[in-house]
Amino acid sequence: MSDRNHIRQQIRQARRRLTEAEQRAAAELIVERVAKAGHLASARKVALYLANDGELDPKPLIDWYWSQGAQIYLPVLHHFSPGHLLFLRYDPDAALIANRFGIPEPRLDIRLLLPKSELDVVYTPLVAFDASGNRMGMGGGFYDRTLSGWQQGRGPRPVGLAHDCQQLAAIPTDSWDVPLPELITPNRHWRW
Ligand SMILES: Nc1ncnc2c1ncn2[C@@H]1O[C@H](COP(=O)(O)OP(=O)(O)OP(=O)(O)O)[C@@H](O)[C@H]1O
Ligand SMILES: [Mg+2]
Repeated sequence: MSDRNHIRQQIRQARRRLTEAEQRAAAELIVERVAKAGHLASARKVALYLANDGELDPKPLIDWYWSQGAQIYLPVLHHFSPGHLLFLRYDPDAALIANRFGIPEPRLDIRLLLPKSELDVVYTPLVAFDASGNRMGMGGGFYDRTLSGWQQGRGPRPVGLAHDCQQLAAIPTDSWDVPLPELITPNRHWRW
């Protein structure tokens, strides 16, 4: 097994071992940190995700942003462009359907589609991160494609969300991996 896949397996197991109470507490702490960070609290068009596989659960953060009048967008697998994501508006009463990974997503409706360049921030899930802001996902390259070029103004600024147990000393990276400028865990708000 490659180093990267070995790391993925270890950390995915660690986050799946978190209890429901630990997950709930972590999710609430993230809301507190975002609410205190002016540049994030003021975002109006916000891409988030629905938790899967022990990921930090952004649902309380989604509810908080809605209470602030912000619009939430969720990633949807692109139907014709393999490996790419679309972002569709998610409203409180929206019906969701499972995609091919079993992750719920909004039904494709072109009226709800927002070009990623119009998002104020995209919160990304991740499997592992390190103290330099390197990020490793589930292995599909979806977020690497979405975020490629954001530093040149082609797309939204990412903010990672993770549990503290997902931190490693150093992550092996490849040329296409997009490092994070910012990441929030229950214990720390990282900025690079
Ligand atoms: N910008 C890109 N353009 C084309 N292919 C890419 C790009 N970024 C990543 N890929 C491809 O995607 C595959 C998976 O990448 P990687 O293992 O880094 O995924 P990941 O970072 O774990 O997943 P994700 O980005 O979804 O969180 C690799 O084979 C890589 O070549
Ligand atoms: Mg990557």
